[in-house]
Amino acid sequence: MRFALRAANTVAALVAAGAAAAQPAPDANARHVRSMAATCAACHGTDGAAVAGEAMPALAGYPKPALVAQLKAFRDGTREATVMHQIARGYTDDEIDAIATYFATRATTARGRSR
Ligand code: HEC
Repeated sequence: MRFALRAANTVAALVAAGAAAAQPAPDANARHVRSMAATCAACHGTDGAAVAGEAMPALAGYPKPALVAQLKAFRDGTREATVMHQIARGYTDDEIDAIATYFATRATTARGRSR
């Protein structure tokens, strides 16, 4: 009986989650770009703003053509890397373009306050 109740609650929660997911995103593409860029934050800092004292290069304010070129060089293996060749491999040209636009337009002092 208790189990049945819990199962019913779980089903209700899943249905609610499904309904929420079915809502059209206000700007699905912008969200997609932000979530791709967020994967870089773990190493390159929030919104690409480098952490003071860390050697990791900042991405915020990185000129777009250079950022595109770097990511493609990592992806193609023309630039040696410890990790970036693995990461860059996951993105299409269009995604690289979108990621580069995102970071090129971040303030270099963003630190989570750019919006
Ligand atoms: C797991 C940590 C990690 C993640 C995640 C990561 N990077 Fe990197 N990134 C590095 C390291 C380390 C380097 C130095 C090159 C190397 O050894 O791979 C680097 C170098 C770079 C460079 C070259 C900077 C320069 O001026 O030489 C760019 C551009 C770059 N990353 C962009 C990105 C982007 C865009 C993302 C997200 C899609 C990302 N990185 C995610 C670790 C990471």
